Amino acid sequence: MITLRGINKTYGKKKQRFQALKDIDLEIPDGASVAIVGKSGSGKSTLMHVMSGLDRPQSGEVVVDGQDILKLKAKAVDRFRSEKMGFIFQAFFVQGNESSFHNVSLPLEIAKVSRGKRKKMILEALERVEMTDKAQERARNLSGGQKQRLAIARAIVAKPSILFADEPTGNLDSTTGEHIEELLFDLNKQQGVTLVIVTHDRDLASRCDIRVNIKDGAIQSIETPKRPKAKGGKS
Ligand SMILES: Nc1ncnc2c1ncn2[C@@H]1O[C@H](COP(=O)(O)OP(=O)(O)O)[C@@H](O)[C@H]1O
Ligand SMILES: [Mg+2]
Repeated sequence: MITLRGINKTYGKKKQRFQALKDIDLEIPDGASVAIVGKSGSGKSTLMHVMSGLDRPQSGEVVVDGQDILKLKAKAVDRFRSEKMGFIFQAFFVQGNESSFHNVSLPLEIAKVSRGKRKKMILEALERVEMTDKAQERARNLSGGQKQRLAIARAIVAKPSILFADEPTGNLDSTTGEHIEELLFDLNKQQGVTLVIVTHDRDLASRCDIRVNIKDGAIQSIETPKRPKAKGGKS
C-alpha cells in the first residue's frame, strides 16, 4: 500500500517558486495498476518521484508498506527503494558501453547481492523480457524496443513489489509499445506487482484499475475504469 497525505511540492525560491504538487491525497492498494494522466507539465513525474522517495515534498506524508519514507535518512530511503521498487524511466538510459547482462546486474550490485546469486537472477530477468540471446550484446547496439525491454529487466531483477514506469511506451512504435505494455501487465497480473504508470496513452490508461487525473499539480479526479470482462473470461 502506498499512501500520500497532504503532499505539497515546490521548486525554486522566492519569485522563481513554483508549486508543482498541491495537497495531494492518494491511496494505492497492493497489486493495483495505476495510471497517472495529465498534460505535459502537470506534475505527473514529480508525483511519481515523491511517491518513490526520489524527491522530497515540502509537506505531507508518504507511507509505503507502513513506513513513512520521509522519516528515513537518505541512505535508508535508498535501501528501502532498492528492496521494494523498480523504475522504468525514459531518462534512465541504459549504459551503452556495457553488455545487457551487466546493465541488469547493476541494481543487484547496488543492493549488495553476492555474485553467486546475481547470475541466476540476471538470466531470469533477461528471460522474462525475451532478451537472453542479447545478454552479451552491448546495450548501444540494441533497438529502441530492446533497450526498453532491457530497462524492464533491470527494473524487475531485484524482484520489486512496486514498479514505477514513466511513459514507458512514449518513444516506441505502437507494436513495440504494445509488447512492453503486455510485459508490464503480465508482471502486475501474474506476480502481483503494483504498477504505477505515467502515460499519455488513453488505451494504456484505460487498462489500469485506477486512473489518477492530474492538472496543474492537483488531483482532478480518480477513476476506476473497470473494463467489462471479455466473454467467457474467468472472473
Ligand atoms: N527540478 C525542477 N526545477 C524546477 N521546476 C521543475 C523541476 N522539475 C519539474 N519542474 C516543473 O514542475 C512542473 C511539473 O513537472 P513534471 O512533474 O515533470 O510534469 P509532467 O511529468 O506532468 O510533464 C513543470 O512546470 C516543470 O517545469
Ligand atoms: Mg514527466
